[in-house]
Amino acid sequence: MTHILGIDELSLDQIETILDRAQMYADQLKDGSYDGTCLKGKIILNLFFENSTRTLTSFEMAAKRLGADVINWNAHTSSLAKGESFMDTIDTLNAYHPDAVVLRHSEYGAPVYVAKRMNCPVINGGDSWREHPTQALLDALTIRQNFGNISGLKVAIIGDISHSRVASSNMQLLTKMGASVTIIAPPELMPEKLPAEGIEKTNNLGEGIKGANVVMTIRPQKERMDKVLIDDFHYFKDYGLTHHKLEDAASNAIVMDPGPFLRNLQISDDLADDHEKFIYHKQVANGVPTRMAALDIAING
Ligand code: CP
Repeated sequence: MTHILGIDELSLDQIETILDRAQMYADQLKDGSYDGTCLKGKIILNLFFENSTRTLTSFEMAAKRLGADVINWNAHTSSLAKGESFMDTIDTLNAYHPDAVVLRHSEYGAPVYVAKRMNCPVINGGDSWREHPTQALLDALTIRQNFGNISGLKVAIIGDISHSRVASSNMQLLTKMGASVTIIAPPELMPEKLPAEGIEKTNNLGEGIKGANVVMTIRPQKERMDKVLIDDFHYFKDYGLTHHKLEDAASNAIVMDPGPFLRNLQISDDLADDHEKFIYHKQVANGVPTRMAALDIAING
């Protein structure tokens, strides 16, 4: 039984194993040769306590592509509304013996807690601002497909670094894989403490993206702010990515975003529609093979 709770606890070897398996599934999805029975007879329980479009859908597709059955448990229609505690909810669902759980939760470390109570592998589908490991893995797969490697690349991550689990998992994964990472944020959205060593920080977008091969934009996570921290007009002026600002990056630079992305706040409309530069749809598509790999490795080893 293998949990996937964060990039923090994955070794470089384990990351490479997941990425290689994900690439195998990406190739097989293209030519239709994937083994649609490798999770036959298994039941995956998706426990999403927070909204999701990409993670929930791609985990469901990944499980079904591998022959598993899926239950998308719904927090809003569950007995949580009657006052049942989170702990009792988890213990109750565990008594049904699912073969794996994918958990998204707003509480810091919730997947780590659930993994201790469940008798099956738990995969973190994103918790608080702490970790979103399968997003970082699919981002890494996308970068590797584009450049052939990650080591030696310069990656600039722009936006709300303080509240972003995607930025947190990416900073850890990309530095483990030998990229140099610069984070760019207004002072209010720049964390003091970072989850990895050797990361450059700047409040200046032009300075931070100089020579970058990969530029990632991260939306202001207003749902995690306890007060208004940014003014949209000034944010776009100083931190919104446009073709003009991208001229400071390397000529082969790609732009990525985990989604959901906010047009004319994080990224200009015309850059969002430039699919040569902004490879968001490739990232989204890589969600399925990456999560096929995560489920396969978590359940089958
Ligand atoms: N990138 C991401 O986690 O998107 P969702 O919130 O839609 O799952």
